[in-house]
Amino acid sequence: MDKIVIRGGRPLKGEVVVSGAKNAALPVLISALLTDRECRYLNVPQLVDTQTTLGLLTEMGSTIVADKEGIAIQIAELSSPVAPYDLVRRMRASILVLGPLVARVGRAKVSLPGGCAIGARPVNLHINALRKMGAQVDIEDGYIVASAKRLQGAKIYFDTVTVTGTENIMMAATLAQGTTELQNAAREPEVVSLAETLIAMGAKIQGAGTSTIVVEGVGRLEGTTATIMSDRIEAGTLMIAAAITNGDVVVKNCNPEHLLSLSELLQQAGCVLEKMDNAIRVQGVTRPEALDIVTSPYPGFATDLQAQMMAFMSLAKGTTLIAETVFENRFMHVGELCRMGANIKIDGHTAKIVGVKSLQGAPVMATDLRASASLVLAGLRATGKTEISRIYHLDRGYEAMEKKFALLGADIRRVKG
Ligand code: EPZ
Repeated sequence: MDKIVIRGGRPLKGEVVVSGAKNAALPVLISALLTDRECRYLNVPQLVDTQTTLGLLTEMGSTIVADKEGIAIQIAELSSPVAPYDLVRRMRASILVLGPLVARVGRAKVSLPGGCAIGARPVNLHINALRKMGAQVDIEDGYIVASAKRLQGAKIYFDTVTVTGTENIMMAATLAQGTTELQNAAREPEVVSLAETLIAMGAKIQGAGTSTIVVEGVGRLEGTTATIMSDRIEAGTLMIAAAITNGDVVVKNCNPEHLLSLSELLQQAGCVLEKMDNAIRVQGVTRPEALDIVTSPYPGFATDLQAQMMAFMSLAKGTTLIAETVFENRFMHVGELCRMGANIKIDGHTAKIVGVKSLQGAPVMATDLRASASLVLAGLRATGKTEISRIYHLDRGYEAMEKKFALLGADIRRVKG
């Protein structure tokens, strides 16, 4: 298995361009299931998860043509509305095919995703909502088996804000009979970008980006050409990299409006930020001020940036508290950061980080996508050599991360395992 080797201590300097967003690309690519016409997608990030998604769509009968501009997908005939366990276990977001398959062909067989490193990751809210729309949904041998002659519009209340739950049901509702109202819907920018893509296909959706989304079902959807929005989590990771290395970096091709919560925290920590039309400049600090951080659904502070921020706060002047309110086990990076000299204790859903003056390089192991990013950030700052193993986690969600950091002056390389 590949490793990333870093010799830390170099401030990052220069400009870096953010890639397309993993969490926007996955639902948008899957939305092609809703039409028999060709859809074209631009700015699709080259990630393990996007490749997995294209593989899944191919299994179902898609024709996929990739060229230097982008990716064309057409599912004229759905040969197999099945998402097998072997595939779903590698990418939980495969659950997003459930709603579109039932809406398009009236049936679906999707493996239960099972848990992952950061939590149990149930999909009960997806299933309950489909049942409310008239689908018969049973669990058989670890699979969700769903069917419906035609989904019916319904009023659906999500008792927990769920991003892919909102996306799954919003897609299903575009072809349902009548109107569907999603209450307590997720407000993430990725939900908005999916809604915009669906509207361009002929869907009738109002309220995306607010807690109440209303979808009026239509008979069919047309093809479209969509550009994947830039990845706000990659942008945030790059901003924190500039901060932790006391660097000076312009993060380009990002939307500062999607990063207000992180920007506020970085400024409170002592960083200097300059916002431009589609870029943010971040000047870091040697040692940040300690903060109180709570993760929450958008527009709150993103759980997907929690691990990265913890690496930065491990060097703070004082004690930082980070409460993880979205997932029940998203502190897997704590043990590895402590191996690098951080002083972090976990108390339930809260981590207490007593700032230290420096981190020391060490061999560490990635456990999940964002935890691996936090270890890279810690390694960029630490004195000495850091070797990060199991970086296949990183490759799921970051496009050529080590190359981007090397262009900013980091001493970082991928060692083929
Ligand atoms: C999406 O996951 C993202 N993935 C995650 O990004 C992100 O961390 C998460 O939203 C929160 O922002 C994609 O968009 C592909 P949720 P999702 O449903 O939709 C509970 C990354 O690092 N819940 O919003 O799976 C759930 O257990 C990944 O890029 C139920 O109880 O997350 C969690 O506690 C990690 N029942 C909370 O809701 C359900 O049916 C939020 O989960 C669904 C969710």
